[in-house]
Amino acid sequence: MNPLVTPFFHAPTGTWTYVLSDPATREAAVIDPVLDYDWRSGRTGVSSAEQVLRHLEEGGLQLRWILETHAHADHLSSAAYVKARAGGTVAIGSGIRDVQATFKRIFGLGEEFVPDGRQFDRLLEDGERIALGDIEGEVIATPGHTNDSVSYLFGDALFVGDTVFMPDGGTARCDFPGGDAAELYRSVQRLYALPAGTRVFVCHDYAPGGRPVACETTIAAQRAGNVHLKAGTPEHEYVAMRRARDATLDVPNLIIPSVQVNIRAGQLPPKESGGVSYLRVPLNVIGRPL
Ligand SMILES: [Fe+2]
Repeated sequence: MNPLVTPFFHAPTGTWTYVLSDPATREAAVIDPVLDYDWRSGRTGVSSAEQVLRHLEEGGLQLRWILETHAHADHLSSAAYVKARAGGTVAIGSGIRDVQATFKRIFGLGEEFVPDGRQFDRLLEDGERIALGDIEGEVIATPGHTNDSVSYLFGDALFVGDTVFMPDGGTARCDFPGGDAAELYRSVQRLYALPAGTRVFVCHDYAPGGRPVACETTIAAQRAGNVHLKAGTPEHEYVAMRRARDATLDVPNLIIPSVQVNIRAGQLPPKESGGVSYLRVPLNVIGRPL
């Protein structure tokens, strides 16, 4: 049994959110929902999340899962908001504990933030099975971009997070704390071992060459044509390319707010005495010297 998949594009961050559902039972999962954020004002917004919620409501879908492919560094997660509105279990790969420990240090977070994954409802291990109605989902650990990265396979639909992008977009960067190009190479080999016709849904698309944005491809198309990593690309060649390229990339616009919210499963930091929630900015820690 294969799920119905509806994509939602968040243009400001180039992020794809997916709603997948089991046509038989009308149970649904949301993958990587986005919280809107304006850096200049510090305002968060829920218009993207509301689109997803409207789709669930109009389709008479019962939300079972809110799945994160990893702690994103380029957009904030609306997992907590979606859960408050529609229910569901918020889950992420168990590697989130490493990511939380790393960023607790980088952001100088206090005792209040415990890096043991308790902010999420479920931490998923490699190979774990999760049910979406009559469709069985499998968690495939795909570290490399981050420690906690996982892909989700439901029937013939594979949600790859930041591993590979569309074939002309290549692969995800591996230079964040905990990232590792050789590890990403091995993760992608696991995905490439899946059946050729597996539908692949990517987490981002930046529309290279000005083509329309796209979200869906296949394992066969990735193996044959991914511009960074084809079926026969040797590991050392990929790792050298990835490292050289990562050394030229800018820090993502929203890494500072995103990580602080996403390691809390999409919740804002606890309100302080004036009833306001604050983010922290570590000076001269993230990125390259100016
Ligand atoms: Fe990412």
